[in-house]
Amino acid sequence: MWLPCGCTSKYVASSFARRILASHLHVSGRSRCNVAAFMPEAAGFEGVSGRAALRELSVSNSESFWAAVARHRLSWSIPFHTVQDCDLSRGKIKWFEGGKLNVSVNCLDRHVHTCPERVALIWERDERGSEMKYTYRELLEMTCRVGNLLRRHGVKRGDCVTIYMPTCPLAVASMLACARIGAAHNVVFAGFSADALAERIRDAQSSTVITVNQGVRGGKVIELKKTVDTAVESCPTVKQVFVAMRTDNPVTMTARDIAMEEVREQKEMLKEDVVCEPAVMNSEDVLFLLYTSGSTGKPKGLVHTQAGYLLYAALTHRYVFSYHDGDVFGCVADIGWITGHSYVVYGPLANGATTVLFESTPIYPDPGRYWDMVERLKINQFYGAPTAIRLLLKYGDQWVNKYDRSTLKTLGSVGEPINTEAWEWYHRVVGDGRCPVVDTWWQTETGGICIAPRPSDPDAEIVPGMAMRPFFGIKPVLIDTEVSGELLTSNNTSGALCMAQPWPGMARTIHNNHQRFIETYFQPYPGYFFTGDGAYRSEEGYYQITGRLDDVINVSGHRIGTAEIEDVVCPAVAESAVIGYTHSIKGQGVYAFVVLKKGIDVKEADLSRQLNGMVSEKIAKYASPDFIQFAQRLPKTRSGKIMRRVLRKVVESDLEGLGDLSTLDDPSHKCIKYLQSCFCFYLKM
Ligand code: WTA
Repeated sequence: MWLPCGCTSKYVASSFARRILASHLHVSGRSRCNVAAFMPEAAGFEGVSGRAALRELSVSNSESFWAAVARHRLSWSIPFHTVQDCDLSRGKIKWFEGGKLNVSVNCLDRHVHTCPERVALIWERDERGSEMKYTYRELLEMTCRVGNLLRRHGVKRGDCVTIYMPTCPLAVASMLACARIGAAHNVVFAGFSADALAERIRDAQSSTVITVNQGVRGGKVIELKKTVDTAVESCPTVKQVFVAMRTDNPVTMTARDIAMEEVREQKEMLKEDVVCEPAVMNSEDVLFLLYTSGSTGKPKGLVHTQAGYLLYAALTHRYVFSYHDGDVFGCVADIGWITGHSYVVYGPLANGATTVLFESTPIYPDPGRYWDMVERLKINQFYGAPTAIRLLLKYGDQWVNKYDRSTLKTLGSVGEPINTEAWEWYHRVVGDGRCPVVDTWWQTETGGICIAPRPSDPDAEIVPGMAMRPFFGIKPVLIDTEVSGELLTSNNTSGALCMAQPWPGMARTIHNNHQRFIETYFQPYPGYFFTGDGAYRSEEGYYQITGRLDDVINVSGHRIGTAEIEDVVCPAVAESAVIGYTHSIKGQGVYAFVVLKKGIDVKEADLSRQLNGMVSEKIAKYASPDFIQFAQRLPKTRSGKIMRRVLRKVVESDLEGLGDLSTLDDPSHKCIKYLQSCFCFYLKM
């Protein structure tokens, strides 16, 4: 039986008693009534009479807060006995132990029980005006069919299935089918190259891959199945590849391929029953791996588990965007990124929302695409990336004004800092000055939004370009990066952004490399989770993200480690250094300094083209350099470390800001002067 039920621990029993008491009290207390209307669980918290007090309690008594919320918002088959068992100094994070549940039941079955014909997905296909709707009943059936298909082909609980698909209903059903049968999924963004895909399949040890024959994006056909064919050649673990049909064009099938559906007939899937027994999962079993870039050349497979992740995605979706029953939620991220996981799939579906799957691009077939979609699908919350906003701003207001956007209630931004100009335009033009804009800060590692202007009082100020306020249960701190590693307690100060206490949505480990997890996130500032970002805390106590403190850059909201690009080996290149630079649309662009091997006779323009092609082939198009500058040598410290800080200043032509050069191995600074005098090859449009 999958019924919403509670935890039997002592704490919850007593909180239940308080809830009953509180429900009597709130009749006479106006503010208590308000806060319980805002969040029903608040009725159970003694002395919580407003939103600020609720936020305070979520941090000071986070166990009580999360226990109540978990009991209320998830359907458990067996209640949890321990709210949390975490030790940040050792990178140990466990939530809701003893509890058993199934994530797909939480995202589907319970809504099918109450409102089977509610639309779960609106697939905004690349071809404008050809959207398709799927009800919760239909999505459950599709999920069960895929679940049974996977089970019949030997996929077991604990296996990891790699999904390499565009944003489409079958991709969502595949993710949920994995969750249903207890397998983990590893969604790889369908823009990644065969090599990048292969590396992720091998690291995840997947024996099953799900893909489509071809993708379609911006009117162009993308040969996804061919990319999978190339990738699996170097993946001995892969036994089977399921191939769905996104277009009608047949592709060559090999002995390991299984046609999931045959042009519109859903051949294999139709054989399957529409009932699929859900696996009963422990709270801390793995739900998915998602690879992201770090400061080394090797991407890391961050691990998220079942209950804590789902709860955090659902709660942030509900409160940051002020989502209410019946709203149409439009997050335009690709499912290959964490934003797609948390705010296209898991958060909205856990809340029974209608969620939009956006398959196209912001400018296809014209720059009015988003706003045409808002009008057609009657979208209430729109969640997108600053890079797209900056791009659309340049095309002018007429593309926005052409469409009716009166359904919009909240606008969201994610992935990178949003500059004031873009924020203002988003607010004034897109939202007609009446929708709150929420600049949401978070990461693959955090599972869901950690800092955002909302929730807060409806009339609370929102400062452009600032993420501002920590979410329930989040306790950010700033730590001095320069000297002492000391906690900075005053306002109007900047430092390394860390979290002082665990929350249910945070990643649990790096797949197969817990040591790297500890070293990256917990050792830099013992006792704290280090985000890798810097932040400023204003006089009022609001947070503003100032950017990465490590060698990770953010191109159009996509993370890429500079070391990953440097690791692309070109026979003519002796060494290279990659840095990010300010780009007016992409936020950051890729700038590569390259030193050639001695005696190499090659035209720089030819080599630039070759290098660019290699990066696209080894990683993805978005990672290929915008500029390549050839150098005789790179500025290094005496111990041989490349001084990227100096390279950044060279690119910014900020000779005054070169800073301390006493560790430079070239006292005459000849190499810096040379770099400044060189020209570079502009490569990308
Ligand atoms: C950056 C994306 C400024 C940040 C959800 C972070 C932001 C990295 C913001 C995570 C924001 C994300 N303002 N910077 N609102 N949101 N970032 O893992 O540097 O793809 O560490 O997750 O993006 O990128 P990721």
